[in-house]
Amino acid sequence: MKFQDLDSKIAEAKLGGGETRIQAQHAKGKLTARERVQYLLDDGSFEEIGMFVTHRSSNFGLDNQKFLGDGVVTGYGTIGGRLVYVFSQDFTVLGGSLAEAHAEKICKVMDLAMKNGAPVIGLNDSGGARIQEGVVSLGGYADIFYRNVRASGVIPQLSAIMGPCAGGAVYSPALTDFIFMVDGSSYMFVTGPNVVKTVTHEEVTSEELGGAMTHAVKSGVTHFASENEVACLNDLKALFSFIPQNCESMPPELPYKGGDEVRMSLDGIIPENASQPYDIKEVINGVIDDHSFLEVHKEYAGNIVVGFGRLAGKSIGIVANQPAYLAGVLDINASNKAARFVRFCDAFNIPLLVFEDVPGFLPGTDQEWKGIISNGAKLLYAFSEATVPRVTVITRKAYGGAYDVMNSKHIGADMNFAWPMAEIAVMGAKGAAEIIFKKEISSDANPEQKWKEKEAEYAQLFANPYNAAARGYVDEVIKPHQTRAKLIRAFDMLKNKVDVLPKKKHGNIPL
Ligand code: HXC
Repeated sequence: MKFQDLDSKIAEAKLGGGETRIQAQHAKGKLTARERVQYLLDDGSFEEIGMFVTHRSSNFGLDNQKFLGDGVVTGYGTIGGRLVYVFSQDFTVLGGSLAEAHAEKICKVMDLAMKNGAPVIGLNDSGGARIQEGVVSLGGYADIFYRNVRASGVIPQLSAIMGPCAGGAVYSPALTDFIFMVDGSSYMFVTGPNVVKTVTHEEVTSEELGGAMTHAVKSGVTHFASENEVACLNDLKALFSFIPQNCESMPPELPYKGGDEVRMSLDGIIPENASQPYDIKEVINGVIDDHSFLEVHKEYAGNIVVGFGRLAGKSIGIVANQPAYLAGVLDINASNKAARFVRFCDAFNIPLLVFEDVPGFLPGTDQEWKGIISNGAKLLYAFSEATVPRVTVITRKAYGGAYDVMNSKHIGADMNFAWPMAEIAVMGAKGAAEIIFKKEISSDANPEQKWKEKEAEYAQLFANPYNAAARGYVDEVIKPHQTRAKLIRAFDMLKNKVDVLPKKKHGNIPL
């Protein structure tokens, strides 16, 4: 009899908000909270915590609406054999809304994750603060935010948004390391379309205001936008495979046999004409282990490419200027995108590989007025404080301040390589000739001809890697096909690197 009681309680808890609501969830193309956990974790590995927790409120008839679990499934399990803690909000129970008990369950797994040094994955699907419970709902959110911040940089925190995420609820995912959204069925905003209409008189749909593509392309709030929930969970698992359990452990390694270090195809990527674009992803994929690149923030700030890859089986974080988009120029969005990625990698012991082809920072009033100075400084700051192994390959242009910023040796890079096509100078030859030979050119009988001569003279002198190599700013000039072998050796040489920042409470990155 007692066993039956238990069995029936378990069955009740597993039904969440009931069959009808589960069907409604499926009809929207969404999985239930439990189905998501099931898909995310290794088969049979999930252990649930707090299945019978209920709320304690009787406000507005809530005492007649008690559901075992209180709208969130929490516990632990494994992905690829590695421990993770997970919470998954159940929209079928009071719209997945968060209040006291629901928040306590989330906090419990976060506390366990911190004590045991394992990542936390949150699957969010919630109407936000449970309105009937009032201020305890707000308190519950704040309890979570506080833990998100305490855990930041200690254990990886990943957030999938698989339904609504509105109001202050968006701030917990925003405090985590990576956000994943599902196109067409998830959205995030601080205030919804109705409030927007009242305050700013703008008419906008939920999708336009805060759908997956909006945040992938326009705001950069989400790092991934997947076409459906399964793809979203697959992306999350793919990212998980590159990252360690905590800030004191190393990322997982895949076995590597070697023998494919020479990559001849790399020799043909850079166009003869230095003003012609090419796709830096060809370089990335040409260098790293086959099919290992996982691009982060793919749809945002295309002028810089960031993502994870493997080199000889080991995780690396890649940051690369993209000459095929805005000539690879550094602007505010690109600086923010790359800075955040660099800081994640540094926090979690993932070595950094930089491919550099950058004409400089983007000029103009728009950028200046929006603060390219302090935003660009974020990237400078992020690289300068990073203590993980750091290697740069200058594939072509390294001009101006951007040369300094993009992981130059001066700001702590360990090894810098340049390809023979590299141009490392204060600015391009044309602009340089115009400035420094202005008088000479204008007083010449044939100014056009003179300009060309001076441009060629400057290019001859500076548009190459050898001045930088002569000073040791570049450690070695290499042919593209040698790059993979050189990088494997360099990162292997750096694998026991120890570098410590001066004692401080924390730095003051220009936010
Ligand atoms: C209590 C909620 C709820 C909430 C939804 N429900 N949100 N119950 N508190 N916040 C309930 C609904 O009453 C409904 O119950 C069930 O969940 C399903 O909701 P529907 O509206 O039928 O679903 P749908 O049409 O899909 O719309 C989903 C939704 C909408 C867009 C999320 O429910 C909605 O707008 N909810 C309110 C969102 C909101 O304003 N939240 C507060 C944000 S402020 P029944 O029993 O009728 O089926 C906030 C502050 C956090 O979060 C501050 C932290 C600092």
